[in-house]
Amino acid sequence: MDAFYYSRPALADHLVADLTGANPFSDAPNGLFLAAPRRTGKSTFLQNELRPALERAGCVVVYVDLWSDKSRNPGALIADAVGAELHKHLGIVAKTAKGAGVSELNIAGWMKIDTKKIGTIDGLTLADAIRALCDMSRRTVALMIDEAQHSLTSDEGETAMTALKSARDQLNTPSETRLLLVMSGSDRDKLLRLVNSNAAPFFGSAITRMPELDRDFIVHIAGLIERSYPRMAPIDVDVLWDAFERLAHRPQPLLRLLGIVLNPLHSPVRGFEREVLLMAEAQRADDERAMESAYLVLRPIEQAVLWRMFEQKNRFRPYDADALVFYREKTGEKITAQKAQAAIASLRAQTPSLIWKSAKGEYALDDTGMYQWFEKRRQQGTWPPVGPDLAEPDQEDEPDTPQP
Ligand SMILES: Nc1ncnc2c1ncn2[C@@H]1O[C@H](COP(=O)(O)OP(=O)(O)OP(=O)(O)O)[C@@H](O)[C@H]1O
Ligand SMILES: [Mg+2]
Repeated sequence: MDAFYYSRPALADHLVADLTGANPFSDAPNGLFLAAPRRTGKSTFLQNELRPALERAGCVVVYVDLWSDKSRNPGALIADAVGAELHKHLGIVAKTAKGAGVSELNIAGWMKIDTKKIGTIDGLTLADAIRALCDMSRRTVALMIDEAQHSLTSDEGETAMTALKSARDQLNTPSETRLLLVMSGSDRDKLLRLVNSNAAPFFGSAITRMPELDRDFIVHIAGLIERSYPRMAPIDVDVLWDAFERLAHRPQPLLRLLGIVLNPLHSPVRGFEREVLLMAEAQRADDERAMESAYLVLRPIEQAVLWRMFEQKNRFRPYDADALVFYREKTGEKITAQKAQAAIASLRAQTPSLIWKSAKGEYALDDTGMYQWFEKRRQQGTWPPVGPDLAEPDQEDEPDTPQP
């Protein structure tokens, strides 16, 4: 079931209507902020569905993934993508101009572009480049920024977001929207930081939860299976849906498990749905074990910091008096702000990093699944996890050395 893809045209149409102002009660023309957990199909949806839907609605679409190169300045990544699109639109005009020995192009009568530099946009601000793209294409530009929260981890990224906001404010008037912004990210709380404080670039916008693949996705898969293996009908959709929920609504692992049981080399057996559910449970247990071992190898103060983050979520302040008392309680040692700071630094230095920090100094867990893991264990009364007693191995009790 490798190339399987389930499309959601109604969702795409709905978002396009919101963005283009067809829905008078939507704030999306000021920016659409979409959040959904990791691996639930955000990027695929933006590229495979929202992009063509916006193009059909007459927009020029530019897609940028800020995680495509985390070491690069988000502003430069966005500028490159806009520049590449601009290049396409300028291509013909520019070639003619270059051929005629013209070194500067006058776009729509207001902006001069050095034809030698077309494709790069140095010398132009991001806002100018977007405006040039609007003018050259004579269309509305829709800029999609995937993993937009990443912009908040650096000052350069924040500057880029502020530039986008100012471009939006310059280009859009009540009667005409020329720049649409779609920002997505895997974590609502992190995305919120783009919109929820006075100083945030998109203050006042709301975050929409991007709907995850729902039961229809499972019904659709069940239909496909029934067609390929009529003897298996009717498929137990409830059980497959249970399995999908265990997998946190992530299509990829579900398809992989189905691929195992519906292997063309062995014909599937009745009740294969249960088998998928059992494997999904096992997979979830594996994921939880992985989190547990990641937690257990940490030093006590690092564990205490994470624990505090689990409890406090976005109210977490690493060095306030209450936090220091908490660390002391959990580690049995006096923890100074310096020690806590060192612990945070080492949690951030892990690969993958356990903690995320914004340029303004706010913290969050990188893998939000860990919050759920914590909540679950707490409800079950199995928090905190306890590791095996790692007593120093006693030399004398070592297993016998190999005999010559
Ligand atoms: N509608 C769909 N039908 C089938 N498979 C899908 C669908 N959407 C996504 N997938 C698969 O799910 C996996 C994750 O998709 P995608 O990368 O789009 O998710 P994401 O939410 O952007 O993930 P990340 O948090 O890593 O950025 C991919 O392997 C993709 O092929
Ligand atoms: Mg993605």
